Amino acid sequence: MNKIIHVTAECYPIAKVGGLADVVGALPKYQEKSGITSQVVMPFYDKDFTKSTHFNCVINDLVYLGETAFEYEILEVPKKQLGFSVFLIKIENLTDRENVYGYHDDTERFTAFQKVVADFVLQMELKPDVIHCHDHHTGLLPFFMSYAHKYNSLKTIPTVLTIHNAQYQGWFSFDKLHYFPEYDLKHSGIIEWDHQINPLATAIKSAWKVTTVSPSYLIELQQKANGLEWLLSHENQKSIGILNGVDPDVWNPKTDPLLESNFGLQNVASGRKGNKDWICNKFNLDPTLPLVAFIGRFVYEKGSDLLPEVISTVFDQLKLKVNILVLGSGDMETTEQLKNIQNRYKGNYNHHIGYNEKLSHIIYGGADFLLMPSRVEPCGLNQMYALAYGMIPIVSKVGGLIDTIIDVDQEHGFGITMNTISVHEICFGIQRAVDIYANKPFYNKLQKLIMKIDNSWNRSAKQYIHMYHSLKNN
Ligand code: ADP
Ligand code: GLC
Repeated sequence: MNKIIHVTAECYPIAKVGGLADVVGALPKYQEKSGITSQVVMPFYDKDFTKSTHFNCVINDLVYLGETAFEYEILEVPKKQLGFSVFLIKIENLTDRENVYGYHDDTERFTAFQKVVADFVLQMELKPDVIHCHDHHTGLLPFFMSYAHKYNSLKTIPTVLTIHNAQYQGWFSFDKLHYFPEYDLKHSGIIEWDHQINPLATAIKSAWKVTTVSPSYLIELQQKANGLEWLLSHENQKSIGILNGVDPDVWNPKTDPLLESNFGLQNVASGRKGNKDWICNKFNLDPTLPLVAFIGRFVYEKGSDLLPEVISTVFDQLKLKVNILVLGSGDMETTEQLKNIQNRYKGNYNHHIGYNEKLSHIIYGGADFLLMPSRVEPCGLNQMYALAYGMIPIVSKVGGLIDTIIDVDQEHGFGITMNTISVHEICFGIQRAVDIYANKPFYNKLQKLIMKIDNSWNRSAKQYIHMYHSLKNN
């Protein structure tokens, strides 16, 4: 195994929307440490990183969507900067924008991107041993490589799809089929699911191997995969769940430059207090009370829609002695509801609406409990960051949360798990957190215990390499 190419829409620190960026920003580093050349190919966006970095242009050319030509450049971020090489594909009028997703022409943006990636691989002297695609934005690539006439010579390169989230599948209509490189139309069934072109389904069918970001999520997908349950059951033979990890270069409370106060096992209490005081001061909260925080995207999958009612129940009905802090953005209704209650619970509840990387680190390093009432959580990184920083997670029993958190009431347990996702159950989880916090010796013991759990990438990176080797023997 010499060379792996990861194809992705996000990679930390270049562009991050969620956990996908963290995974693709870390996994290649660990693969490089094992002696494999691991490279990332992603779109070029208009971000702080791209504004402040000097690139080498390795290729410029044209890509066509139907009759329309777009100029593109492939820009290289030198390996010494991130520990692995990154190639940014800058397609004029398509990728060069502030946000990663959410535009009316995302289909055009990511289809053109994938065609450029295939063209790029065609031109490489040293061909990769594996092309590793992440999520639906890169899901057409395994199909192009297997069936498009132009890419016939790439047919023998194994492709892997990692599903980070099967809720989003990148659907579009057959009206846009002319964007595809020419292929034998008898293979059209591969790109179709439910009368539409479905890039995620396409990749599940055409990639050599499918992985999910936790073993439990793989099992769950056969029951609940936004319409792809049957397909995933059918492709079970070529699928495997590999749990994500934590990158200690970024997520280490001893060295994290984004924390207000750094700490290790020896000074957990005083170090965390420095961060908690900073948060409480900034958000007008009481540092003597347990602080429960939510960090994440406001989407149905994360259970964020329940937060406003949870907050009013905790303070109005249960009258718990606790503070709650929310960091996130997304759904407008949830945002409005949270804004409406911000004044009512002044001193007990507060929020920061938006994305703020630094604040997220300080919350992991200072708040006492992390609330994750997810309805769907393919892996979840927040709970692993929380553990590494001594913050006790309160989680639902889904996906990767099942694989990473054991309830305190069980043998070797250290977290709080919720059996169902309801306001009542979440409030009960918070009640349990308040009780744990009140028992200081137990709480302090738990903090030290969770900080010692090893969720680093070493184990998972090895599993990926093992899986790549299995493809070679096919
Ligand atoms: P997902 O990818 O589904 O959003 P993950 O748990 O895998 O969930 O990863 C979420 C990542 O995004 C974590 O690194 C988390 O700290 C970060 N994050 C989410 N929302 C915010 C926010 N509003 N501000 C800062 N970081 C955030
Ligand atoms: C997705 C999932 C999340 C996972 C992340 C990284 O965004 O929602 O659970 O941790 O990808 O794999």
